[in-house]
Amino acid sequence: MKRILLAAALAACCLSSARAQDAAAGEKLFAQCRACHQVGETAKNTVGPILNGMIGRQAGTLDGYSYSAAMKASGISWSDETFSEYIRDPKAKVPGTKMIYPGLKDAAKVADLIAYLKQFGGDGKKAP
Ligand code: HEC
Repeated sequence: MKRILLAAALAACCLSSARAQDAAAGEKLFAQCRACHQVGETAKNTVGPILNGMIGRQAGTLDGYSYSAAMKASGISWSDETFSEYIRDPKAKVPGTKMIYPGLKDAAKVADLIAYLKQFGGDGKKAP
């Protein structure tokens, strides 16, 4: 029994620290997005929309941001899968999007970016 608990504790420890590392790597990658996107409690819409709480929301629906017709009509609900497809090649996933970004092809880097972005709730507060 003790051994099982220990194994569970180890798994919990190391899984969460792996996620923290991913998020830290994702924060560095987000430098590529920061020219156009903000996250956090003081985030504002700039060239692109605020990305707080992005995973789980419908594409093109943030109040106060003027999306392209293509993004508004995309019908995408942002999930790990749809976001990965979009960020790999934005213009292929949403033809006519006004996001000018060539794409991030490396799946591991995309996962890091998702880990980073998922830390921010819809109110921009960062989960511990
Ligand atoms: C040159 C500016 C620019 C860069 C760089 C950029 N974006 Fe964007 N992004 C935009 C614009 C503009 C839109 C709105 C697109 C539209 O309406 O078609 C957008 C839209 C999005 C959306 C859809 C948001 C929503 O509310 O539906 C996501 C997600 C997104 N960007 C993620 C990213 C990520 C992650 C990066 C970095 C890897 C990035 N973008 C880099 C300008 C940019």
